Amino acid sequence: MRVRLLGTAAGGGVPQWNCACPSCVHVRLTGQHRTQECAAVSANGTDWYLLNTSPDLRTQLITTPELTPGPGSRQTPIRGVVLTDAELDHTLGLFSLREAGSLDVYATGTVLSALEHHLPVRAMAGATFRELHYGRAVDIGGLKVTAFALGDKQPRYVAAANGTDWVSGLRINDMVYAPCFGEWTAGLDEALDRARLAIIDGTFFSAAEMPNVKGHLSIEDSLVHLKRFPGVEFRYTHLNNTNPLLLDGQGLPLAAESELL
Ligand code: MLT
Ligand code: MN
Ligand code: ZN
Repeated sequence: MRVRLLGTAAGGGVPQWNCACPSCVHVRLTGQHRTQECAAVSANGTDWYLLNTSPDLRTQLITTPELTPGPGSRQTPIRGVVLTDAELDHTLGLFSLREAGSLDVYATGTVLSALEHHLPVRAMAGATFRELHYGRAVDIGGLKVTAFALGDKQPRYVAAANGTDWVSGLRINDMVYAPCFGEWTAGLDEALDRARLAIIDGTFFSAAEMPNVKGHLSIEDSLVHLKRFPGVEFRYTHLNNTNPLLLDGQGLPLAAESELL
């Protein structure tokens, strides 16, 4: 399996358009921008599936050699999308895929419902929407994908509370993909069993970083768990511009833009 990280920042990216925090100022000078969190996976190196679709997707696709179209004039290696949640920073990129001839979009029932009733994206031409059920493995282009529960934090654009399967992690072959979670659960432990690689929530370094860090376990609080899985290579992704590790990584395993894993 190949894994290409397309973007590694939380919503807004780094720099965020309206922000002059130290990290945003720093990367404006260095050019070390981070785009919003998104990845691509492939079982065979030919057919690729996106994990989340960020608002930066168009740029991410154009700068990723594996995802270049051809040789036919409308031939793309992108076969589908698997969503971990319905947050705007993970779903707005779906609108950029509206020219797709065919595309399979996988998500839980609650997320699919949000994409139908709250974001009008299910009307998108060419896409087939497929429901993921927790604990039930599905074959997606030769990858064994099992979604598991990681919380019920719903996007702000969904006003009324409904549904429980809002936030998921994905076990994909020997990788765990979990860019957002508010607590370290038994289900996450289970998914990490005999995994090779895990891409996990690194939004905030500490819970004191912002007034409301709900939905994101801080790196300070998750580091202790990493030590319990010495055989797993971890990467922290979905890095928020408030995260001080952006300026000094302190040797911690931060995901890098465009990293191939
Ligand atoms: C999150 O990661 O918690 C969300 O993307 C926040 C948001 O932009 O609403
Ligand atoms: Mn986010
Ligand atoms: Zn900033």
